[in-house]
Amino acid sequence: MIEIRAAKITDLPSVAQLVALSFHPGGGWQALWRSFVRWGIEQDLRDRWHKERPHYHCWLAVMPKEASFFCVGSVEVQLREIQGQPHPYLSNLAVHPHYRRRGIGRQLLHTVEVSLCPTYSRLYLHVLAQNQAAQQLYARCGFVMVEESFTFWGERKLLLGKSLVGDRSYSPSAISSWV
Ligand SMILES: CC(C)(COP(=O)(O)OP(=O)(O)OC[C@H]1O[C@@H](n2cnc3c(N)ncnc32)[C@H](O)[C@@H]1OP(=O)(O)O)[C@@H](O)C(=O)NCCC(=O)NCCS
Repeated sequence: MIEIRAAKITDLPSVAQLVALSFHPGGGWQALWRSFVRWGIEQDLRDRWHKERPHYHCWLAVMPKEASFFCVGSVEVQLREIQGQPHPYLSNLAVHPHYRRRGIGRQLLHTVEVSLCPTYSRLYLHVLAQNQAAQQLYARCGFVMVEESFTFWGERKLLLGKSLVGDRSYSPSAISSWV
C-alpha cells in the first residue's frame, strides 16, 4: 500500500538516495559516482529545507517496510520567479525505477496541485527536451509549453506551466498562507 505524505527532515537521506538513483541509474563506475552525487543532493535538500521554508515543501510516496518505510517517490515544490512573478515551481520529481508506470508520478503531481489550490493560479517546472517519459507524464497531467531555453551544458530544456483549478491571480499576501 503506497501512501503520499509530506516529508520530514529525517526523510531527507532517503529522498537524496531516491533522487540520485532516479537521475543517475546504472551500475559500475556510475554507482560509485552516484554515492558522491547523493551526498551533494542531500546537502542541497537540507539547504532548501532550512532557507526556503515555509515556501518549500517535499512530498513523498512511501511503502511500509518491516518496522519502517521505503521511499518510492518524491517531488519538491518551492517559490521561484517566473516571468517576473513568484510562482510555485516543481522540481526533482522522481519515482524508483522498480515502481514506475503505477501512477505514482501522477499521484505526486496531483498532491502538489491540491496543496497549492486555491492560493496559487499556476504551477511551473522545467523538463529536458530529451526526457520523453517525463514529458508524456506532464502532458497527460495538463502542462503546456511556455518557453524553451538551454541548460549550462547546452541541453534543450522546456519550461512547462499549468493553470490550477480556482484560477486566482497571484497576490503577494497569499505567499504566507502556503504552509
Ligand atoms: C518521469 C517519472 C517521474 C514518471 O513516474 P511514474 O510513476 O512512472 O509515472 P506514472 O506511472 O504516474 O505515469 C503516468 C503517465 O505518464 C506517462 N509516462 C510515464 N512514464 C512513461 C514512459 N517511460 N514512457 C512513456 N510515457 C510515460 C504515461 O502516459 C503514463 O500513463 P500510463 O502508464 O497509463 O500510460 C519517472 O519515470 C522517473 O522518475 N524518471 C526519472 C526522473 C525524471 O526524469 N524525473 C522528471 C524530471 S523533469
